[in-house]
Amino acid sequence: MSLTYLITGAGRGIGMSFVKALLACDTTMLIFAGVRNIATATELRTIAQSDKRVIVIPLDMDDDGSIQNAARIVSSRAKSLSVLINNAGFTPETMSPAAYVPPGDFIQAFKTNTLGPILLIQSFLPLLERAGGLVINISSILASMEMNPGRQVAYSVSKAGLNMATTIFQKQVKDNIVKFIAVHPGVVTKEVRPDPRQPQAPYITSDQSAQGILQNIVFSASVASMCGRFVSWDGKNIPW
Ligand SMILES: NC(=O)c1ccc[n+]([C@@H]2O[C@H](COP(=O)([O-])OP(=O)(O)OC[C@H]3O[C@@H](n4cnc5c(N)ncnc54)[C@H](OP(=O)(O)O)[C@@H]3O)[C@@H](O)[C@H]2O)c1
Repeated sequence: MSLTYLITGAGRGIGMSFVKALLACDTTMLIFAGVRNIATATELRTIAQSDKRVIVIPLDMDDDGSIQNAARIVSSRAKSLSVLINNAGFTPETMSPAAYVPPGDFIQAFKTNTLGPILLIQSFLPLLERAGGLVINISSILASMEMNPGRQVAYSVSKAGLNMATTIFQKQVKDNIVKFIAVHPGVVTKEVRPDPRQPQAPYITSDQSAQGILQNIVFSASVASMCGRFVSWDGKNIPW
């Protein structure tokens, strides 16, 4: 089995951890690693120089032209796409109460977290269909109506929109030839001190998150049962 991947936001954080974890898999044939700015993605470029399975491509999720260009590059190098990981995400810095969040935060969050992934799926659907592929939409537990404690309205609305798109794509694709799963990657931190807003949160590293998503979802024998669902990095169901 030779698998081909596209990961967005691959230059750092969980996206970079996906690249590293996939390079440890014998079944990985090609990883298209999308970054907004190739010039600043030094660690990723170093990895790509030492392992030819990694191809760094320019991919700005806010720019439809960049998405179309990425589709052209990938289809010139691969006949099909096994797994698309919509990982790139924008988190507004402001933590204002919902009543005061500026429109720009909603617009930016919608562009990067909702519309970009939808346009990317549209562009890659033919290649995904050819592989009988899988789309992992990296969402957030904050997108869950039941689980969100009442914070980060722009971010949460945008990720809830991504969740809705996940279910609609799954319902519309014929015979589940492509699988779509919305995934909360865990509460990931590089910080030693826990987030004071979530002191009890079980923190994991970005490596644990990426490896967990691969083991518990992407390579899981029960991946088909997760189609059109919202699951956590450990494979457990999350209420919408
Ligand atoms: N960390 C957590 O605890 C947590 C929890 C729930 C969900 N998530 C979700 O998990 C995903 C990854 O999170 P992370 O913690 O690894 O985030 P991160 O360290 O902040 O990295 C975000 C990534 O997204 C990329 N990105 C942002 N806007 C982009 C755009 N317009 N086009 C292309 N790439 C763009 C960034 O690229 P640049 O390097 O160019 O900025 C970066 O690679 C995100 O979708 C996030 O919402 C994270």
